Amino acid sequence: MEQIKISSAVDKAEIYEELLPQLESLVCGEEDFIANVSNLSAALKQALPYVSWVGFYFMKEGELVVGPFQGKVACTRISLGRGVCGAAAAGNRTVIVPNVAEFPGHIYCDPDSKSEIVVPLSKDGEVFGVLDIDSAEYGSFDPVDGRNLERVARLVESLFNLSNKKF
Ligand code: SME
Repeated sequence: MEQIKISSAVDKAEIYEELLPQLESLVCGEEDFIANVSNLSAALKQALPYVSWVGFYFMKEGELVVGPFQGKVACTRISLGRGVCGAAAAGNRTVIVPNVAEFPGHIYCDPDSKSEIVVPLSKDGEVFGVLDIDSAEYGSFDPVDGRNLERVARLVESLFNLSNKKF
């Protein structure tokens, strides 16, 4: 049985160092893209103590449509350029929001959300989705999360290429 184990009392950078190889082994040998990103969302939720919602949105006909996630029910569709997810997808860049109330156009899916990070996923320079993570605390995400979640995004992109999946 697959398990995610993180030692207690470790800091954020250490959590990611322990987590990344486990994420790789969690998905290795499986080509089904949805199965893999489902497990990745569960593993991130389990490993990161400050996370209230974690999941994926994938581009379908010019809109972001919710994919596998962990957390409360979320909005199904987000237009490109709208909210934090739409901004990250439109600009193909990671967006860190310390206080969602101060982000113009932020979309409240989960009323408990206080801070958020969104990392784009791309293939040949074209964005095919985003990894979105919310926290119920202000200022949960910093460049350590940005750097490491971009490593997770590279893993998801390699899985996407492997699976020949199209959205
Ligand atoms: N807050 C996001 C919407 C998605 S939920 O957080 C799951 C946004 O502004 O794009």
